[in-house]
Amino acid sequence: MPRPPASSKLKVQSSKSRRAATRPAIPRSLVPALLDWFATAARDLPWRRTLDPYAIWVSEIMLQQTQVKTVIPYWERWMRELPDVTALAAAPEQRLLKLWEGLGYYTRVRNLQKAAQHIVATHAGQFPRAFEAVLALPGVGRYTAGAISSIAFNQPAPILDGNVIRVLTRNFAIGENPRDKATNEHLWQLATHLVVAAAPVTHYALRITPLIISGPCSALNQSLMELGATVCTPQNPQCLLCPVRTHCVAHREGRVDELPNLGPRATATSREFHTFVVEHDGKFLVTQRPAGVVNAGLWEFPNLEITGQCGTPAASLKQLLQVTARCEPLCAIRHSITRYRITQHVFRVRVAGLMRPPSPLRWLAPGELPHLPFTSAHGRILRRLQRGSAGA
Ligand code: ADE
Repeated sequence: MPRPPASSKLKVQSSKSRRAATRPAIPRSLVPALLDWFATAARDLPWRRTLDPYAIWVSEIMLQQTQVKTVIPYWERWMRELPDVTALAAAPEQRLLKLWEGLGYYTRVRNLQKAAQHIVATHAGQFPRAFEAVLALPGVGRYTAGAISSIAFNQPAPILDGNVIRVLTRNFAIGENPRDKATNEHLWQLATHLVVAAAPVTHYALRITPLIISGPCSALNQSLMELGATVCTPQNPQCLLCPVRTHCVAHREGRVDELPNLGPRATATSREFHTFVVEHDGKFLVTQRPAGVVNAGLWEFPNLEITGQCGTPAASLKQLLQVTARCEPLCAIRHSITRYRITQHVFRVRVAGLMRPPSPLRWLAPGELPHLPFTSAHGRILRRLQRGSAGA
């Protein structure tokens, strides 16, 4: 378990001496206010109805970079199909990718399996309880280890993600960039003090029917994430509904909209692709992305990034497949990955014969395609084809 910081620069203090402090201090009533609020406001999310660390771990990995409402059906299907560590450790890669299809950032699912195999090999298939052992799992960082340890085991391990950063920087009016090392560490310390202060609370309801809460450390951490997700939002925060607005320095000083100070946004880069739905006699050309590249193992339609040199779709098609054919515009698919704003210009191409495609392209029947894990954008192209819609 992570040790709470030794002597406290962040002391719990009375409201009288609060203003005099040079460092933010934690008002005594902050933790009880968060715990009471969570008991009434917690959303009924399926991973809150269990204390199974495996189920909680899967939810936390899915929730990285993905919204709660998107995750719910993925998590429910995953838990039906791979209900425990052993099932995950043994699952074929293509099955895992299919279960993850559409969530993106596929390193997450590969690490989930590596970690499950590690748990089978090292912990006899039992999810470890020791914080350091959880932190040692592939794909598990300080946040995820804290979330699993507190939610499943009620350990006083802190969490700090985007939601918690927003709550803390506003509550304590921290104007420095939370990505700066010293500020980030200061925020971790604050998060540690809050969860450590919650630990001795004994009267905390462990069942907020139908939710199951392992104890006050779980509730405190989840109250911070919940507040950031539902009240202390990036835009239009609902300060009047906030259970800790009387403590919130940014609210008092009218600085809520300025915080957190995340510095300038990374500039977006546009990337454009020619993508071809090549058809012959009801079969389609598809390819599997090779090992070692982004989205490795996923399937897609043949495509080429449009660079300065190449121009027309016909030229791209010739370069990709060594064929000349009419390229009929089908649709444009727009999506974002990290700082890239990507447009796939999709064309339908009918070829005269089942030419032998350059490796690793393959001709597959429409009935085979939905069983394969496609990249997000190409999955959208496939669904458009299945609906028979050619609209952009
Ligand atoms: N975001 C990250 N973890 C979460 C959780 N356990 N519940 C809701 N939202 C979250």
